[in-house]
Amino acid sequence: MAATTICSWNDFDPLQHVIVGRADHTCIPPSEPATEAKVPKDSDMHGLWGPRPLETVERANAELDNLANTLEQRGIRVDRPTPIQWNQAVITPDFHTTAMFGCMPPRDVLLTVGREILCAPMSFRCRYFEYLAYHPLMQRYFDEDPLFRWEQAPRPRLTDASYQSGYFDEITIEERLRRTAALDFVTTEHEPLFDAADILRLGQDLFCQHGLTTNRRGMQWLQRHFPDHRVHSVNFPGDPYPIHIDATFVPLRPGLIINNPQRRLPDEQRKIFAGNDWQIVNAAPPAHQQPPPLCYSSVWLSMNVLIIDHKTVCAEASEVYQLEQLDRLGFEVIPVPFRHAYPFGGGLHCATADVLRRGGCDDFFPNQIPGTRIN
Ligand code: GLY
Repeated sequence: MAATTICSWNDFDPLQHVIVGRADHTCIPPSEPATEAKVPKDSDMHGLWGPRPLETVERANAELDNLANTLEQRGIRVDRPTPIQWNQAVITPDFHTTAMFGCMPPRDVLLTVGREILCAPMSFRCRYFEYLAYHPLMQRYFDEDPLFRWEQAPRPRLTDASYQSGYFDEITIEERLRRTAALDFVTTEHEPLFDAADILRLGQDLFCQHGLTTNRRGMQWLQRHFPDHRVHSVNFPGDPYPIHIDATFVPLRPGLIINNPQRRLPDEQRKIFAGNDWQIVNAAPPAHQQPPPLCYSSVWLSMNVLIIDHKTVCAEASEVYQLEQLDRLGFEVIPVPFRHAYPFGGGLHCATADVLRRGGCDDFFPNQIPGTRIN
């Protein structure tokens, strides 16, 4: 096997080594100050918590294994996390919750920036120990790659001060949208918080979605932690549940991004893309009217694709409109069945985390246009 090298600067350069999640022991976590954010009002998940039914775990694992095999058949090295028993309480001096989540979506917690993998300071109490599932891999990478930077953002305390109390009481979709547009989220600015899946990596620039899981202090921490990068704040006012950027704003190759048409990037924030010859096109509509049962995510997981290189992309097999659009845009499209895995933490991009992509830290935005930068 080739020597282990950790390095990735974006989501589209040629993929050589990746982590694919596992569904074992995944739980629906009990309600806590941050999770009401993620569960839509009409969701079948309200009031439920505990281990997911075994047959659904097995179906999700079959799809995850198939994804891993598909990538390996293309010569991509695949590693898998080591699930722990997620149906255990988390008790810290500051909070207590009775179950954890899972390790199907490594993208949420692991942020790869160049030679570094950074474990994110996530805002869900039930996800406090999720990084443990990746610890054996991080330890191995540390032993095998002398230049690997194994990092952990400051562990948040997640006391009640990190959340607005009563944020979700009687909240309508209209009110959610009003608050999203006003950048009024359940997480406060008490301490730095972000999910890795809110960070879009484009070489020297990191675009962070300001939303329910990432606050301004989290972005400020990122800017200080990556002083050679330019960290930007973006937001998407049409999203009633702004969590994770990868079903909203997805770069396909240098110069081309698909944007969820219901969650349009505001004009002011588009300027830096237009000013550097990036084209933003509307993503194709989802093929489904509803997400699968017991799913946190929206039907827009249709655009949550895993890019293999500038000409090749994995997309969910039943998402016929997205497959067609990618084909029209000149990609070889690899259809991958994944709807049984969706409820466990998202789509093909969510279920993976980059270890190695060939290519360097490009400057895609030499014309820096004011309006998005974090100082
Ligand atoms: N935030 C992911 C979604 O749209 O479901």
